[in-house]
Amino acid sequence: MFKKLNILDEKDKRLRIKSVPYTGPVSDEEKELVERMIQHLTYSQIEEYELKYDLRPGTGLAFPQLGINKRLIVIVDEYEKGKFANYVVVNPKIISHSEEMIAADAGEGCLSVNRDVDGHVPRYARVTVSGLDLDGNPIKIRAREELSIAFQHEIDHLNGILFYDRINKKKPFFSEKEMRLL
Ligand code: NI
Repeated sequence: MFKKLNILDEKDKRLRIKSVPYTGPVSDEEKELVERMIQHLTYSQIEEYELKYDLRPGTGLAFPQLGINKRLIVIVDEYEKGKFANYVVVNPKIISHSEEMIAADAGEGCLSVNRDVDGHVPRYARVTVSGLDLDGNPIKIRAREELSIAFQHEIDHLNGILFYDRINKKKPFFSEKEMRLL
């Protein structure tokens, strides 16, 4: 049985806290929650389920959005039509990044932000993220383009940052000359 997640809204102060790193194992209860996050994100990207369960499409979630201020993120990336890759990273850290910056031309969205916010969010075009898997094994992921944006967006959540904090209020949009827009 699919149960929709209770995702905190942007007004909730818990989204503005810097989350703490894991120093021990991820609990069974937390692992179950991760499974639900993966299912929620996957369903939200499949039209049939999106409509059936009235979901907003999303590619990622971070624990603080569920009221847990611990450093864990989940990304479900549709890398090919109908094909999804799941990324679960404990204590994620950007260990290197490109010089090049990009932005999603349509702006970014967030399952905690229930309104449209216009503006380009500058992000690194490529990042390498290190961290741990759910069993505590070290992992390293190279991400580019939309997936790179997703990692930066979710890691921001662990630091209490929402995507619109990064939109320049005086100049919310870039031209193609200034930045590569996806
Ligand atoms: Ni978000």
